[in-house]
Amino acid sequence: MVRFEDVWLKYRNPAHPGASARDVLRGISFEIPDGGFRWLTGPSGAGKTSLLKLMYLAEHPARGFIDILGTRAAHISRHDAALLRRRIGVVYQDFRLLPQLSAYDNVALPMRLARRSEPQIAADVSEILRWVGLEDRMNARPDELSGGAQQRVAIARAVVGRPKLLVADEPTGNLDDEQAERLLLLITALNRLGTTVVVATHNMALVERYPAPVLRIEAGRLVGHG
Ligand SMILES: Nc1ncnc2c1ncn2[C@@H]1O[C@H](COP(=O)(O)OP(=O)(O)OP(=O)(O)O)[C@@H](O)[C@H]1O
Ligand SMILES: [Mg+2]
Repeated sequence: MVRFEDVWLKYRNPAHPGASARDVLRGISFEIPDGGFRWLTGPSGAGKTSLLKLMYLAEHPARGFIDILGTRAAHISRHDAALLRRRIGVVYQDFRLLPQLSAYDNVALPMRLARRSEPQIAADVSEILRWVGLEDRMNARPDELSGGAQQRVAIARAVVGRPKLLVADEPTGNLDDEQAERLLLLITALNRLGTTVVVATHNMALVERYPAPVLRIEAGRLVGHG
C-alpha cells in the first residue's frame, strides 16, 4: 500500500538557504492498495516528479504522513530506507544510467546490490533485455545507445528485481508507439503479478488505451483521483 495524508513538499534554494521555500506539493492525500495501478498526470511543472520522489524516499515532506509498503517514511532509519528502496523499482525521467557500465551491467546492478547469484542475474538480465528488444546491445554503454534504447535499459533495470512498487516517471517519453505499447504490456504483466504501479505520463492516448484510476495534479494540488 502507498498512502499519503496531507503531504506538503518544499524545495529549499541552496543558494539562499534563509529564504522561505515555495510549496511544490500542497496537502496531497491519496491511497493506492497493494497491487493497484495509477496513472499520474498533470501539466509540466505541476509536481509529478516531486510526488514520485517522495514515494521512492528521495525527498522528505515538510508536513504530512507517508506510508510506503507498510513503512512510515518519516521516521525511517537509513538502514531501513535502503532495504525499502530495494523493493521499489524506479524509472527516472532522465534515466540515470551509469555511463561507464554496459547496458547489461546497468540492469544487473540492483540484483548485485541485493546479492543475487551471478547465474540468476545472467538469466534474469538476459530475459528482461530480450523483452525490451536490446538483446544484441547488452554490451553497449549508454552513450552508444539512442535515447529510446537508454530509456528501455532504465525500464529493464527498474523491473528486473520484480519490485513490490514500480514508480515510472514518463517512461514512454522517448519511445515510439510500438515500444510504448510493449512497455505497457510489461508493466501490466508485472502489475497482475502483484506489483503496485504508478506511471507519470503526458501520453493521454496511452492512458485511454489502458484505463486505470488517474491521480491528476495541477500546481502542486491533487485535483482528481479516480
Ligand atoms: N530540486 C528542485 N529545487 C527547486 N525546485 C524544484 C526542484 N525540482 C523541481 N522543482 C520545481 O518544482 C515544481 C514541480 O516540478 P516537477 O519536476 O515535480 O514537475 P513535473 O510535473 O514532473 O513536470 P514535467 O512534466 O515537466 O516533468 C516546478 O516548479 C519545478 O521548477
Ligand atoms: Mg517530471
